[in-house]
Amino acid sequence: MPRPPNHSRPHPSRAVSLSESVVSMRRPILAANWKMNLGRPEDALDFVRRIRYALNEIETVDRIVCPPFTAMAAVAEALAATSIAVGAQNMHFEDKGAHTGEISAAMLAGLCRFVILGHSERRADGGALETDAAINRKVRAALAHGLTPIVCVGENLVQMEKGETQAFVSGQVAGALDGLAPEQASRCVIAYEPLWAIGTGKAATPADANRVITLSIRAPISDRFGETVAQAVRVQYGGSVTADNIAPFMAMPEIDGALVGGASLKPDYVDLVRNAAEAAGSR
Ligand code: PGA
Repeated sequence: MPRPPNHSRPHPSRAVSLSESVVSMRRPILAANWKMNLGRPEDALDFVRRIRYALNEIETVDRIVCPPFTAMAAVAEALAATSIAVGAQNMHFEDKGAHTGEISAAMLAGLCRFVILGHSERRADGGALETDAAINRKVRAALAHGLTPIVCVGENLVQMEKGETQAFVSGQVAGALDGLAPEQASRCVIAYEPLWAIGTGKAATPADANRVITLSIRAPISDRFGETVAQAVRVQYGGSVTADNIAPFMAMPEIDGALVGGASLKPDYVDLVRNAAEAAGSR
């Protein structure tokens, strides 16, 4: 079951405008994308046992760990008594059938609560299973099985340099959410991950990421589903996020968290999440 949004209370000493109170309802969300690492259950458990107590204490943000499929059951069991959720890194849009090597939302539903969809590393070599239309089918399947999709979008370097970011990213967003009911759209998480920032050590600037999220993610969602949905959807930034650079991203009004690759594989990932929670708390 998806967790209800956190209705954090406004500060009692001042009046809060509608838009401020909506922002305060977007509970921050930090997701660890392990990619094709720590896939042996014993390695995953060794790592998760080192971070879980400290990570569990950072209760003001949603914390998701996304291991490879082979380690999901072990990680889910190790985190069962914590408030840390498990996510998958991909799934097929069909429930079952002749799809050798694929995993469905129906199979994941008992194991995890989140699923990353349309990551650029998959879009790059996923062919027909990673088009915007296929990702839309995956989003629908995930929602139908009670999973929260984390839909990845982002432009590549050439598109960024040509000034095509807004058209491209808003097209990816519209494609992924096409035909959903507003309530379904509001349950999705979007991860804005410029391709040139992933694994390069060259993160976007927080201000640039905030601007892309405003113009290319919240604006098209508002056009299709209305402003209330656009303000309810949680949007992460991803791409070379570290414990040292996370705070200014979280201070941005439109950035609600991060999807973290490389830095999520180190024990000091806990510091990253703690820094994120502190920065989000003061915005
Ligand atoms: P990175 O990866 O943090 O290693 O740049 C992010 C991602 O691909 O989700």
